[in-house]
Amino acid sequence: MANLIIYFSLSNNTKSAAEKIHQFIKSDIVRLEPQVPYPVGYSNYVPIAQKEFENQIHPAIKTKIANLDKYDTIYLGYPTWSGQVPMIFHTLFEKYNFIGKKIIPFTTSVSSPISESMTSVKELAHGSEVTDGLKYNGNDIQLKEFLNNK
Ligand SMILES: Cc1cc2nc3c(=O)[nH]c(=O)nc-3n(C[C@H](O)[C@H](O)[C@H](O)COP(=O)(O)O)c2cc1C
Repeated sequence: MANLIIYFSLSNNTKSAAEKIHQFIKSDIVRLEPQVPYPVGYSNYVPIAQKEFENQIHPAIKTKIANLDKYDTIYLGYPTWSGQVPMIFHTLFEKYNFIGKKIIPFTTSVSSPISESMTSVKELAHGSEVTDGLKYNGNDIQLKEFLNNK
């Protein structure tokens, strides 16, 4: 059984969560990078993200994921944006085939629980087994317990 962590992160909170998971389980890890980088600074990238939602833009992905076929479990990490997954995940699911894989979502957010964004994950990942997810808040004991139950 091979595990792959795929995550997107702008201000590195989700990166921290992904790297913790990488420490705790045998896995490969890949960071999703958009073709066109987001500008630096919260107030600069928020309007761009909002425009993506409004216009249902699927931003192009620069990252290449090698040998996705060999992984049966995907840890999918994202910052909660407007209660859902960032639009770049729409591109990911168009570009790569996750059917038949197990998807384990994790997120970081200011206040939204992961339940808020699970609908959007399940919509994207129909055809995959989507487990319950975790909002990572720096609690590594909780994270370990979550991973052990998967
Ligand atoms: C465009 C945008 C929308 C956001 N929407 C939410 C939200 O709906 N709920 C929430 O709790 N936090 C929201 N946040 C805050 C992020 O989820 C939070 O800062 C996250 O940890 C950032 O992850 P990152 O450092 O990996 O980019 C939003 C942030 C951005 C930039």
